[in-house]
Amino acid sequence: YPRPLNNNNNNNYYNCLLLLLIIIIITADRGWRFRKLDPPEDLAVLDSGRLGQMQITWRPPSSLTKMTKCLPQYQLEYFNTYKNNWETLRTPRRTYSTQFDPSKDVHIKVYTILNGECTNNTMIMSKNCAETILKPPSTGQAFICVYHNMENLECSWTRSLKTPPSALHNLYFWHKSLDQAVECPSYILSGGVRKGCNFSGKPLPEFTDIYFCVNGSSREGPLKATFFSLQIQNQVKVTAPDKLHLQTSSDTELEFHWENPAGRLPGHCLEWEVRHHHVGTDGKISLNHIHTEKPRLTLPFSNSNERNCFQVRSRLNSYCVDQSFWSDWSHETCHPGSDSKICAPLHESLFRQIKITTIFLNVLCVKF
Ligand SMILES: *[C@@H]1O[C@H](CO)[C@@H](O)[C@H](O)[C@H]1NC(C)=O
Ligand SMILES: *[C@@H]1O[C@H](CO)[C@@H](O)[C@H](O)[C@H]1NC(C)=O
Ligand SMILES: *[C@@H]1O[C@H](CO)[C@@H](O)[C@H](O)[C@H]1NC(C)=O
Repeated sequence: YPRPLNNNNNNNYYNCLLLLLIIIIITADRGWRFRKLDPPEDLAVLDSGRLGQMQITWRPPSSLTKMTKCLPQYQLEYFNTYKNNWETLRTPRRTYSTQFDPSKDVHIKVYTILNGECTNNTMIMSKNCAETILKPPSTGQAFICVYHNMENLECSWTRSLKTPPSALHNLYFWHKSLDQAVECPSYILSGGVRKGCNFSGKPLPEFTDIYFCVNGSSREGPLKATFFSLQIQNQVKVTAPDKLHLQTSSDTELEFHWENPAGRLPGHCLEWEVRHHHVGTDGKISLNHIHTEKPRLTLPFSNSNERNCFQVRSRLNSYCVDQSFWSDWSHETCHPGSDSKICAPLHESLFRQIKITTIFLNVLCVKF
């Protein structure tokens, strides 16, 4: 009897179809839910007036406003320009504050997350996100800060070609211990125009990011603001060494040592470069640069008819800071110390000679 068998087969077939249909419905339902979950709306980034301290805000998607079964949460992702990676965090709140480097792109993404009764306790996240990228304004303006002898910070900026002549620049700065950005305490003027800011010994924290903003106004309207950030211990320019001592310790050695001007410079952080100008007895001139980590130098010395001249400059070494400016060169000291004519750089004496010749010719011309 094949018939009942057939019947049975048919039943099996329908059962199978039903199961498949259920599976499809469940999967489709899940997919539908997943796709249906909208990203947050009205993502906004507000500069809270603290130069890079940004407040990020958003609203829940309007499709969820009637949802009462579970509260939406959010996944916030932003690019941390200091660590050079993406930070991810989850929050039920609709706002988040963090510090960005305003001289770089600010990139933020926010997703909606549902979890609870409405999703049968499985977490689902919106496929799309609300996203924003803030580009730092670029004005082609150069900005440099020099921390003179670790005592006084001076920052200066250039006016770009597009800067209107009537422009009046302002400088604001901010760091973690300030509530609000603060304006420059004393502007440096050049030709009646603001070219820089003198912090006049006003203390700023070291090993802390300091944020600067140069903005301003002109008759044509407000100027584009530019942002910079730096740590001041990396901007140090030491004062040139000023006490140079040069003597022969014996018939065969020349000893050169020096002192940096008093100040709060950590001695173990200094390094030096010595410019050694040597004129041999045969009149042969050589110029050497010697790098040293101690404020002294001993050189072989053979003939009392030769002449040695030295200048030295200093900076902070890379064990203490990431970078440092060289100080100016110190004055020159020579051995033997008296007549310093031989030590004048060649071009200078040549220049002097030309000048004398010119004066001589001029006198001749006037006479005849
Ligand atoms: C919810 O999940 C539970 C356990 O995981 C399950 O027994 C139940 O059938 C699910 N309900 C729905 C409507 O999916
Ligand atoms: C900045 O201020 C310091 C201390 O008040 C002063 O010694 C220095 O000359 C000033 N620099 C300029 C460029 O005005
Ligand atoms: C410059 O920036 C500061 C700090 O954000 C702000 O308080 C000031 O109003 C700005 N000035 C101009 C002219 O835009």
